[in-house]
Amino acid sequence: MARVIVTSALPYAYSVPHLGNFVGSVLPADVYYKYLRMNGDDAIFVCGSDQHGTPIELAAVKKGVEPAVLADEMHQTIKTLFERYECTFTYYGKTHTEENKEVAYSFFNELYNNGYISEHEDMQAYCNIDKRFLTDRFIQGTCPYCHKKSARGDQCDSCNRLLEPSQIIDPFCAICGKSDITFKKTKNLAFDLNKLQDELRDFIKRNGKYNWSRDAVNKSLSMIKEGLRPRDITRNMNWGFQVPLSGYENSRIYVWFDAVGGYIGITKEWDSRKWRDYWQNEHTQLVQFLGKDNTLFHTIIWPAMIIGSKLGFVLPHTIKESQFLNFEGKKFSKSNKVGIWLDEALRIMPADYWRFALMYAYPETADSDFTRRGFADAVDTIMNDKIGNFAQRVLKLAAANRQLVEQGIVPESEKRVKAELEKYTAAFGKLQLKKAIAAVVGLAEQGNRIMSEKEPWLLAKAAKTDAKAAGEAKDVFSSLIAITFALGVMLYPFTPEASRKLLAHFKVVAEPTLALLSGATELDLEREPKPLFSKLTADEMEKLRKYA
Ligand code: MF3
Ligand code: ZN
Repeated sequence: MARVIVTSALPYAYSVPHLGNFVGSVLPADVYYKYLRMNGDDAIFVCGSDQHGTPIELAAVKKGVEPAVLADEMHQTIKTLFERYECTFTYYGKTHTEENKEVAYSFFNELYNNGYISEHEDMQAYCNIDKRFLTDRFIQGTCPYCHKKSARGDQCDSCNRLLEPSQIIDPFCAICGKSDITFKKTKNLAFDLNKLQDELRDFIKRNGKYNWSRDAVNKSLSMIKEGLRPRDITRNMNWGFQVPLSGYENSRIYVWFDAVGGYIGITKEWDSRKWRDYWQNEHTQLVQFLGKDNTLFHTIIWPAMIIGSKLGFVLPHTIKESQFLNFEGKKFSKSNKVGIWLDEALRIMPADYWRFALMYAYPETADSDFTRRGFADAVDTIMNDKIGNFAQRVLKLAAANRQLVEQGIVPESEKRVKAELEKYTAAFGKLQLKKAIAAVVGLAEQGNRIMSEKEPWLLAKAAKTDAKAAGEAKDVFSSLIAITFALGVMLYPFTPEASRKLLAHFKVVAEPTLALLSGATELDLEREPKPLFSKLTADEMEKLRKYA
C-alpha cells in the first residue's frame, strides 16, 4: 500500500474550463485517484483554483471589480462544476489563502537564504496609455523562437517556450491594444535556475526516465541543455501575494511560484496537521497530471523550488503529461467559438457520458480530436450497446430464470474477468489510462461474445426439460453475472453513476473496491433492471450540432 498525492494542474480562476482542459488533467487525475481508492491505497487528491496572475487582474481591470472578488466567484463556479462531474477531490481549494501565502513565503525565504534569489534591475514594458507596467499577458506580440504572433509575455502559445516580456517582438498592450510602450527601469527578483541546473538534470535523469511521460523528460532535458536562465519571480502588478522584502511594495510574487506551491498550500488548507505527513515524507509518491503547456513549470521551476529551498518536500515522482484535445480538428477557442465548455456540456448530456467519451479520446501520448461522430460512437456503440445493453440483458435473463442463478459467485474466478482485470490493474499501475478503459470495454466484449455464442435464453428454455442443458445454463449464467458485476466495479473510475446503478443490483451501496471481485456476489433478483446508458436522442444530437 503506497502513500500517494495525486494532483491535477490548478485551473485558472478566470474562466470555466473547456472539455480540452478537463481531459488534460482534472479528469484523468480523478479517474486515477478513484482507482487508487478502489485499490485501497493511502492516497489524497488535491486540486484547486489558480487565482493569481495577470489574466484575472486583466479581466478585473476590464470589468472594474476587485480581482479577489472575481477570483472567488469563479472559484465557486468551477468547484461546483467539478462536483457535478463527480470529481472526488480530497480537497478542492484555491491559491489566494493564508495557508498558501505561508507556503509561498517559506519557499521564498528559504530560496533567498540559500542564495538562489537575486535582485536585478531591468527595463520593463510600460504602457503610456494605461500608465502601468505590462507583465506577462498584459503584453502580447511575436515569439522570438517560432515567430508566431501568438506570444504572451510569459509563454508562447504556439511553441510553448517560456518567455520573458522583453523577448517579445512587436509588443502591444493587452488592455488598450496599442503599442505606445516604453521600457522603464524597475527592480525585480529572479530565481537563479542556472545554479540548480546540474541537480535538476540529475534528478530528471534519475527519476524521469521511469515515471514521467517521455515528452516531458525530453523537453525538460533539452531546456536544461540550452542552459537555464534566471527567471523572474516578482511582477510589477497589483494582484497576488506581496513580496516579503522591503523595496518591493509595488510588486507581487509571480503567479506560477504560488501556483505550484499551491499544491502544498491547498493540502494545508485541507488539514493543518496532516499535510506534512504527505508532503514531508520520503515515502510519498507525488503523481502529477498536467497538460503539455504546463510541463516545464512542473519539471523545472517546481523541482528547483523544492531542491533549492531544502524544505524536505517530496519531488514529483510521476509527471503524467497530456497532449492537446482539439475540437472538430480545431483548437479550442472562446473567441472563435470553437469547443464546448464544462457548463454547456452538462446541458447536453449527463456527466458519465462526458467522462467516458473524453477518456476514450484522452490525448495520452498524441494530440487527439473530439468530434461529434466520435462522441456519438462512444455513446451509442460502446456505452449503450456494448456495455449498457449487455448488463441489462444479463440482469433481465437472471430475473426471468431465477432457478439458474447461483448466488455467491466469486467474480475473479471467471477466467475472462481475471484476464481483463489483470490488464486493467497493470494499465493503471503504469498510468496507461487508455489501456485501462480498453480493458473495461474488452470485458464487455467478452460478455457479448458469450451472449451470441451460447444464446443463454435458448439454454434456459432447454434447461426446463434437460438436466445437462440446465448445468450448462447455470455455468453460462454465472459467467455472465460475474462479468456484469466486474463491469460495475471496473466502470467506477470512468462512469461513477453507471457503476452505482449496476452495483445496486448486487446490493453494493458503498464506494466499490477491487476486493469485491474476490468476494462473493449477491444478486438482488427483485430489483428491476433499468438501462445504464441510452443512445443520443435526436434532441441531444441537435444540441451537439450547434457546436460543430
Ligand atoms: N493555471 C494553470 C493553467 O491553467 C496551471 C497551473 S498548474 C500549477 O494553465 F501547478 F501551477 F498550479
Ligand atoms: Zn513561439
